Amino acid sequence: MDYKAQVTNSLLNALGADSLSSAEIYEKIEHPKEITMGDLAFPTFTLAKTMHKAPNMIASDLLAKIDTSIYEKVEVKGAYINFFLDKAQFSNEVLTNIIDEGSTYGQNDNGKGGNVPIDMSSPNIAKPISMGHLRSTVIGNSIAKILTKNGYHPIKDNHLGDWGTQFGKLIVAYKKWGNEEDVKKDPINNLVKYYVKFHQEDKEHPELDDEAREVFKKLEDGDEEATRLWEWFREESLKSFNKIYAKLGVDFDTYKGEAFYNDKMNEGIEILKDKNLLEESQGAQVVKLDKYDLNPALILKSDGATLYITRDIATAIYRDRTYHPAMNLYVVGSEQTYYFRQLKAVLTEMGMPSAANLHHIPFGLITVNGKKLSTRSGRIILLDEVLDDAIELAQKQIEEKNPDLPNKEEVARQVGVGAIIFGDLKNERTNNIDFVLEDQLRFEGETGPYVQYSHARAESILRKAGTVDFYHVDKQLSDPEAWETIQALSTFPSIVESACADFEPSEIAKYSLRLAKAFNKYYAHSKILADDAERNARLSLVKAVSTVLKESLNLLGVEAPDEM
Ligand code: ARG
Repeated sequence: MDYKAQVTNSLLNALGADSLSSAEIYEKIEHPKEITMGDLAFPTFTLAKTMHKAPNMIASDLLAKIDTSIYEKVEVKGAYINFFLDKAQFSNEVLTNIIDEGSTYGQNDNGKGGNVPIDMSSPNIAKPISMGHLRSTVIGNSIAKILTKNGYHPIKDNHLGDWGTQFGKLIVAYKKWGNEEDVKKDPINNLVKYYVKFHQEDKEHPELDDEAREVFKKLEDGDEEATRLWEWFREESLKSFNKIYAKLGVDFDTYKGEAFYNDKMNEGIEILKDKNLLEESQGAQVVKLDKYDLNPALILKSDGATLYITRDIATAIYRDRTYHPAMNLYVVGSEQTYYFRQLKAVLTEMGMPSAANLHHIPFGLITVNGKKLSTRSGRIILLDEVLDDAIELAQKQIEEKNPDLPNKEEVARQVGVGAIIFGDLKNERTNNIDFVLEDQLRFEGETGPYVQYSHARAESILRKAGTVDFYHVDKQLSDPEAWETIQALSTFPSIVESACADFEPSEIAKYSLRLAKAFNKYYAHSKILADDAERNARLSLVKAVSTVLKESLNLLGVEAPDEM
């Protein structure tokens, strides 16, 4: 039970139906700075106008109508109603709830099972997966988990960039300068090499571009050799992407890349024609978007070739028909914000059901140790290497701190990869972030390993405690540190809801840091394992903390080892 919700309810009953809504009340409730002002306070100033009464009068009148028996006490101070929660009862309720519900604590049914395709990760074939794609992968994965926790049915769709004129270039380049053995040995690096060479050469030999265009046309028409090479490049690229996904612990429900929509683009174009939305502009076909204050969207090139957006239109039609989505999410970097506004506008004009609930979920740039990532400049920081570096660093830390730990290797992977995922997700999505690996791997501070370590600490206490009767929590925990931890535990369900409404995993990450901090303060102040009347209650608190920390990390896609 969320204590703020409990106070909201009390006020809603006292105010009656035609005053404030429960959301409005919830918003207004404050956390007083002084403990003498109670745990929660409700200011009545804003009611004065509509009720034509002085705020302190309103407060006293309301107090008379509130059922105070569920609180320690409720008092009026000036314009405020101060609520003192019945700590024993409240703690008992929160802790038994969490222990009963386990990992399902905080689950709700707001989504009513609605399908939510999430377009995520979506790297481009024959290119290294970038740190931007990493962000899309881990943000998308976490949002999928948060959606599930809120009763939705997410469909993780890796919309691979596996189609477009660049494949004409790649095929031409491979046939001129490539060989099979090299591609097999090190597919991505060699395919990139051919591609880069193509761009160097075509400056002096523009005829290469014509050749590439022809080859891509052949590919679109199903030419056997072109198709065979394309399939092979795709397969080799996927193999190397999958290694990274496995390390990150992310999987997908479907890999329908852009190529899948190659033979499904006519329908969208027909709808655009039927609705008279296509206009000719310098030989090409565009949709004018003046009324959205946007530039025209180019749908077909002058030679009839389709574009990125043509495939996205086909994708939207397909997803509408296949999933009848409650929402359509696209986890793609901020640099494509303008593009997604155009896409949404075009789909709106087409009258597509998906348009209204299309959400572009942008995120900022990521740099590693101050360095930007790019494939063009030649200096490529491979995600794979960043992950391996993190795992190695974690290994060193474990070697220092806990050399006797069983399955050190597996824990090092969980900690190293967890540090990267957490280091990304703790930031508000749209912020640009710079990653200093060493910082993210510290066991203290705002890091994944810190939260993991707090969870492992709780588990270690529980191991030492042996068998505990978790259901006898009726004894009130007397220390203020316990109360802070219990308050944090009680807000988890509302954090789960708001992280979902905002598509913002950082709310969960920040919450987990808050809970871990409160718990560590509690740990430092109390003898948890002492043999007295509060032992059960203290250990129930530890159990609840462990459960909620683990579930928070799980919602971020970070593993929580029991020992580290
Ligand atoms: N492959 C694209 C890129 O790397 C991202 C695709 C995003 N999804 C989409 N439906 N447009 O930039």
